[in-house]
Amino acid sequence: MSWQATVLTLFPEMFPGPLGLSLAGRALENGVWSCTAQDMREHGLGRHRAVDDSPFGGGAGMVIRPDVVDAALAATQVPVDVPRVFLTPRGRSLRQQDVQRYAQGPGLVLLCGRFEGVDERVLESRKIEQVSIGDYVLSGGETAALVLLDACIRLLPGVMGCEDSGVEESFSEGLLEYPHYTRPAVWDGQNVPEVLLSGNHAAIAAWRQTQAEEITRERRPDLWSAWLARREKNGAAANGKNGQTDPTGV
Ligand code: 6GU
Repeated sequence: MSWQATVLTLFPEMFPGPLGLSLAGRALENGVWSCTAQDMREHGLGRHRAVDDSPFGGGAGMVIRPDVVDAALAATQVPVDVPRVFLTPRGRSLRQQDVQRYAQGPGLVLLCGRFEGVDERVLESRKIEQVSIGDYVLSGGETAALVLLDACIRLLPGVMGCEDSGVEESFSEGLLEYPHYTRPAVWDGQNVPEVLLSGNHAAIAAWRQTQAEEITRERRPDLWSAWLARREKNGAAANGKNGQTDPTGV
């Protein structure tokens, strides 16, 4: 059984969009995952197929009706054990651990809103999680859904070329990744860090670890605090594994 993405949207033409290309596109062709975009307008009401209405209590914008969302959801016939996610800046922040959990499951049903939002009652009674992809506002949930799908699909078995590259990357260890360099060894008057040319794999690993820690401390104090707390808790075990003491002196 392939991983199944079902998207409820007013713009079904936006899917699979960029996920029809590159690694995700290849995996889609190979049946590793499937993508069904359902037009919620088909469940709209009246001659104009209205999907939204003005908010009770007044205010700007329009709200998508709960009955329309419910009808669209029912029509998908996706089993209830498939997680349902509404993409909204009001949601809890998406993390790599959530992505890993979603990727390990049967797939996702993604609800994309436009306008001000979706009636809260249908989200609660149909067990639709609310997820945000960051602290900024997009014009609709579709691009956020593409981001979430991309993050999941690359973790599906057989999607990434090199199985290793999913492991040693930003976030999987709670640190940002170390910087990368390639040829030429001198470019624009700048040398590649010497240790990387040394052939000393222990020294290289230690340098990369130190770089990852410094970059995380500078750029993401939130991740750095969490990582320090985890290292504290794990004590000697983490110390050994993460090579805090550099035996090479580099
Ligand atoms: Cl999930 N949707 C929208 N519309 N805006 C967002 C978002 C989601 N996450 C951050 N901004």
